[in-house]
Amino acid sequence: MATTLDPIAEFREDHRKVRDGILAISEALTKKDIAKAREILGVLNELTGPHFRYEEENLYPALRKYLGEYVDQLYKEHDNVIETAKVCVSLLAKDSLTDKESQDATNAAMQMLIHVSNCDGLAILSERFTAKEMDALSTSFATSRKAGVPLLDWADTIRKNK
Ligand SMILES: [Fe+2]
Repeated sequence: MATTLDPIAEFREDHRKVRDGILAISEALTKKDIAKAREILGVLNELTGPHFRYEEENLYPALRKYLGEYVDQLYKEHDNVIETAKVCVSLLAKDSLTDKESQDATNAAMQMLIHVSNCDGLAILSERFTAKEMDALSTSFATSRKAGVPLLDWADTIRKNK
């Protein structure tokens, strides 16, 4: 029997990984280790693609019954995170950063950290889903992970075409 994914536990576990990754990026930037920061950002791009996709395609629609129109803001918040991630990628593509660029990249990382903190709050509402809804979320989260489209690829293709 295939093991089913626990949508809340996995959702929160992703957040822990992203939190730690972002903090590690900030630390690498402090040490002027751009290669390290770039490498971690690459890992986060892979990890957050399926997570964001699952949220937008399945979790957010399901949360409408609790949050109503506020859900629209969650999508907008993702627009901002995606833009911030792009800024971060372009800065970290450089071989060296000025102090200003390094500060910009650190600020971008902090913006993403704030989003992680906000997003994790959705878990408290998700706990109230019915078993049937939870099963549906479990399946869709697993499907999104299996597809494995990185965040910025997804944002520029599948997400844009919706
Ligand atoms: Fe999230």
